Amino acid sequence: MPDVLNANLYDFPKYYDLIFGSDWKAEFDFLLEAFEKHSNRYVERIFEPACGTGRLLIKLAQHGYQVAGNDLNPKAVDYCNDRLKRFGFPRTATVGDMADFKVKKKFDAAFNMINSFRHLPSEKAAVSHLQCVADALARGGLYLLGLHLTPTEGNAIENEAWSARRGNLAVNSYMWTKKRDSKTRIEHLGMTFDIYTPTRQFRIEDEMYYRMYTARQMRQLLSKAPAFEVVETYDFSYEIDDPIPIEPDTEDVVFVLRKR
Ligand SMILES: C[S@@+](CC[C@H](N)C(=O)[O-])C[C@H]1O[C@@H](n2cnc3c(N)ncnc32)[C@H](O)[C@@H]1O
Repeated sequence: MPDVLNANLYDFPKYYDLIFGSDWKAEFDFLLEAFEKHSNRYVERIFEPACGTGRLLIKLAQHGYQVAGNDLNPKAVDYCNDRLKRFGFPRTATVGDMADFKVKKKFDAAFNMINSFRHLPSEKAAVSHLQCVADALARGGLYLLGLHLTPTEGNAIENEAWSARRGNLAVNSYMWTKKRDSKTRIEHLGMTFDIYTPTRQFRIEDEMYYRMYTARQMRQLLSKAPAFEVVETYDFSYEIDDPIPIEPDTEDVVFVLRKR
């Protein structure tokens, strides 16, 4: 039985980045294709609210974009900035709340790809987030917002597993739904991360709470953010030539929002 640590995975950016960072390419290509296809402006400056370790920001910076982001977790922000600096870019990630921030100079595009938005616990916070992002964007700028909707038909995904390895470090992770409450709109998730290093094997046990959105609830929310129009919807296969309609059994969606 490995040592077990009850902790927040976001406090271990190295492990987070290994697990989620290895999957960057499809999202990265999709972002570039979406900028090309849907933006009404030339994209030079990109912002990521809840950027975490900046697994996508670093790739975008290396591709020539000016990037910045914010995140509540100071350890993730340090990790993001240290890596940006190591590759010769400015330390442009800041500790901040994605539902309450301002930027000094507007951005051409923003993105939030894998459910981070669902960390926001209330409708008020979600509306405030959309307003902050709209204020941070120049006219015609895009916000790519990816999340799992709660399907109203069919069965929702109940668990997901990932594995990744870099050098001597390997991480296996497992995430499962403990409870979904459609009244409070809270999904309670359990997570385990098994970490293997040459000298130690241990498990991080974590849990988190995501706000739930049916397609209708998401539509209602977006109607409270009139600064944005929904220009297209995709799923997590990130096929730019294959947008999807949102059906009652749709789960993973990337909303392409454009600032009016
Ligand atoms: C699933 S991670 C995603 C990180 C990054 N966007 C990515 O794609 O790898 C979610 C991130 O949201 C951050 N977070 C949660 N609530 C936040 C808030 N209110 N404002 C800013 N960041 C927040 C967490 O600290 C964590 O780094």
